[in-house]
Formats: sequence, structure tokens, C-alpha cells
Amino acid sequence: MPSITYSPEKAQKVKGRVIVVTGGAQGIGATTVTLLHTLGAHVVFGDIASGPGAALEDSLKATNPPNGGTVHFRHTDVTSYPDQLALFEEAFKIHGRVDAAISCAATVDDPTWFGNLTLDAVRNETASAGISKMVATNLVAPMILTHLALAFITASPSFPGASIGSNQGFTPSVTFTSSLAGLTPTPGMTIYSSTKHGLVGLTRSLPAVTPTRFNALCPGATDTAMLPDVVKDMWRGAGFRIQPPEVVARSIVQCVVDARLDRRVVVVAGGETWESEEELEKLWPAWLGEVNAKEVEDSGVFFGGPGKRIKLGRD
Ligand SMILES: NC(=O)c1ccc[n+]([C@@H]2O[C@H](COP(=O)([O-])OP(=O)(O)OC[C@H]3O[C@@H](n4cnc5c(N)ncnc54)[C@H](O)[C@@H]3O)[C@@H](O)[C@H]2O)c1
Repeated sequence: MPSITYSPEKAQKVKGRVIVVTGGAQGIGATTVTLLHTLGAHVVFGDIASGPGAALEDSLKATNPPNGGTVHFRHTDVTSYPDQLALFEEAFKIHGRVDAAISCAATVDDPTWFGNLTLDAVRNETASAGISKMVATNLVAPMILTHLALAFITASPSFPGASIGSNQGFTPSVTFTSSLAGLTPTPGMTIYSSTKHGLVGLTRSLPAVTPTRFNALCPGATDTAMLPDVVKDMWRGAGFRIQPPEVVARSIVQCVVDARLDRRVVVVAGGETWESEEELEKLWPAWLGEVNAKEVEDSGVFFGGPGKRIKLGRD
């Protein structure tokens, strides 16, 4: 499996770039905002959590990084199209361009949706509001983000000095934060897992007609507030690994700067990062049957897909 190694040298390519991040106030999003800012990017981030968002903005501004990074927070509910539009408009107004977008916002399941159901419970139609909100946050919002990012990236003037220095080879991108639960069965988190599978499907199916790259990052268990302490204790107690959010943030930045990564699924689990589509596609003939696999590949190209992947190999 092709491993993806974070390159601090390549990461310098974000310097001066304008990057929009949603769900950036806490956890993996906040760690990513911090790393990008340290590397000299202009980060414009949104989150529904205004207090932590404003506090992160203030604390990063106080650091005054030598690379010239800037940071700007705006209250954003990603389920609102006008909110996400306003976030992109703000980035464009302040910096005159958008170079990349990263979607981190998400919420987790109400595990009662599929369990111990009574007729009284299912006759209460308001109960569906919770899952609708979750699908809106975890799946529809990244689709809105993509729609907006493509327009704002396309409207951005070419980057000054793009062909010289460390910014050479930077290509615009959209990175989705999916999950290992977006690739594997996760019965305790059924709706969450379904939305995260949706992000993998979105990444695979986005057309290859734009110069913008799209990638889905699939983290395994990560030490953030999304995992309650009791779950973390049980998880560690069973001998499973929980990685720090910094590892995931570095993998997100690698997706932003690594021009080889396009419509890829990058897994980061137990502190290791690797691309999973290349190996999976080798199994298509066994999984789908020889003829179907060939037809899926050919018709994918017919409908604007990337066709056979270029082997990642060594960078
Ligand atoms: N922590 C893990 O183990 C883990 C594993 C796999 C994937 N992920 C994914 O990583 C991403 C970041 O998760 P995290 O672990 O940092 O969780 P987190 O709860 O610490 O952060 C999620 C952020 O999203 C924000 N958010 C939620 N709803 C929002 C909305 N409607 N509008 C705007 N912002 C909203 C929250 O306020 C929060 O700041 C998520 O997409 C999550 O699904 C996390």
C-alpha cells in the first residue's frame, strides 16, 4: 500500500496561499488551522462554535508567525448555504483569492435511531430532525463547500510568482475529512458511517474536468472531543490505538500540497498514512468480475472520470 509521508519541505507550498477551513474551531480542524498558519498560509476558518473559534483566532494572531501566516475566524453553520457562501466571500474580500478548501465539520450519531423502537417513537415525526441535521452537516455541507470552492478557485487570479520558489507545483484542492468509518462497517455509528461513506463516493465521482484536486482523508480513532472520554478509555483498554490530531492535520496538509493526490482516499490510522484506492482498484476484477470491472473502468472514463490511476510510487 502506498504510504504517504508528510514532507515539511513540501508543506511550505501553502505559504501565502488562501485556505478556507470549515469546522476549524476545535479538534482536528483547529490543529489543521494552527499548522497551516504556522506554515505561512492565510487561513479563513468557520465553525458553529463561536467562542472556541474566536479564542483560536486570538491565540494564533498573538503568535505572529515568521512565515507571515494570517488567520480569520467567522461564525459559520455549514448546514446553511448563505453561511458557507459568506465564509468564501470573506476570504475573497480579504485576500482576493481562494486556493484550497478543507472540510472538517461533523457531528456523531444518536444511536437510538435504529434501536429499541416503539410505535409511539416512530409516530413522532420530529425525531427525524436529528438525522437530517447530521446528513446536512456531514455530507450535504461538504457538497456545498465543493460547489463554492470550485467557483471561488476558478475566479482567483493566478498566484503571483507561482512558477518560482517553494510555491512551484501548487495546485488547488478540496480535502474532505471522511473517516475509517467511511470505508468499513461501523454498526454503533450507522448514520455517521453512512455520511462518511458518502464523502468517499463524492471524492470518487467528482468529474476530472477541473484542475482542482479532490481527496478524502479517512482518520482512524483520534484524540479529540468527538470521542467521549469513556469511549477513549474503553478503546485504549481493548488495546486499540488513538492517534493525536497533529498526525491527522499533517496528512490533511499533505493532501493540500501533494499534486499526485487527486480523487484519492488517504487513510491515517494509528499514526500511519497511506493511500487506499490504488490497492483496492487492483481487486476490482475479483470483486466485481473481470468483464464488469473493465466496463466500470471504461464507462468511468466515458463519463469524465480519471481512468486508470498513475501509480503513486515514490515521490
Ligand atoms: N476524532 C476522531 O476519532 C475522528 C475519526 C475519524 C474522522 N473524524 C472526522 O474528523 C473531523 C473533525 O472531527 P474532530 O474529531 O476534530 O471532532 P470535533 O468535535 O473536535 O470537531 C468538529 C468541529 O466541527 C464543528 N461543527 C459541528 N457542526 C457544525 C456545523 N453545523 N457548522 C460548523 N461547524 C460545525 C464543531 O463545532 C467542532 O469544532 C470530522 O469530520 C470527523 O468526522 C474524527
